Amino acid sequence: MKGIKDFTVEDIEKMDYNQIIGIVKETNRPPGGRNSVFEVINRLHLTEKSRILEIGTSTGFTPIEISRLVKCRITSIDINEESLKEAKRRASEEDYDNIEFIKADVSSLPFDSETFDVVIVGNVFSLVKNKKRALDECMRVSKKNGFIVAIPMYYIKEPPKEIIKKVSEAIKVNIAPKYKQDWIDFFLIPRLEIYWSKDFKFSYIEDRKISEFCANILKRRHLQNLKKETYEKLSETYKNFMFLFRNNLSYMGYTIFILSKRKLWEDPELYTSEPLNEN
Ligand SMILES: C[S@@+](CC[C@H](N)C(=O)[O-])C[C@H]1O[C@@H](n2cnc3c(N)ncnc32)[C@H](O)[C@@H]1O
Repeated sequence: MKGIKDFTVEDIEKMDYNQIIGIVKETNRPPGGRNSVFEVINRLHLTEKSRILEIGTSTGFTPIEISRLVKCRITSIDINEESLKEAKRRASEEDYDNIEFIKADVSSLPFDSETFDVVIVGNVFSLVKNKKRALDECMRVSKKNGFIVAIPMYYIKEPPKEIIKKVSEAIKVNIAPKYKQDWIDFFLIPRLEIYWSKDFKFSYIEDRKISEFCANILKRRHLQNLKKETYEKLSETYKNFMFLFRNNLSYMGYTIFILSKRKLWEDPELYTSEPLNEN
């Protein structure tokens, strides 16, 4: 693997956003960040005995955030080695020895069937080519009474085509705009049901805040080891990504879905209800 000094302008041009994250060591979070993790820990009553698998950990935000509240046994996977290296460093800096980081692909998980109480996928299904196979793998490794947590992002307003094209280029995945119902249709395979869910929309972030955020990330000491022209290309690419994502997110929301395996003996609930008010 290349060291930071060896990266060229062409390397940066070829990288997708997730690879850039590995280089700049950005704290990449699931949609909703800490609030989503907090909600999941509490809703699922995680304890030290819980066995968790997290898919697409990036730089390890979710397992570290869970460990602050519950020292359960967590296995976090990603396909990106640079991000995993940083995730390991952060977990060890916090003295968390309950998290193991493994390079693996969600489409072919290296774990026995029915191993985990909870499989957390965050917003990773959006990035995976064969989504059905990924969901089947998550189902396979979760215990009979286990849960799958997914926090997919989707459009709540129709986005301009230009934005979709630019985001597809940035993440190097051809995205077909998805709406909430598309995700519900995807998850509602015969063996799975929605146990609990909550919807959110993204806040609009001002230009000034984005510029400040980028400046702070780009002044990190390790990045000063890049060649001058590579650093300039990285800075330009990173800032473009961040403004593009802000524009894209202004059309988007997300849902925390807690999914559970359907019990064969249970009849569907007929007399469902809804809150009288949202207070
Ligand atoms: C947007 S970040 C996820 C951030 C956050 N952990 C979340 O749950 O939403 C997506 C991560 O998924 C990883 N990823 C993409 N495809 C993957 C796959 N097939 N298997 C495992 N990880 C994958 C990427 O390398 C990246 O680090």
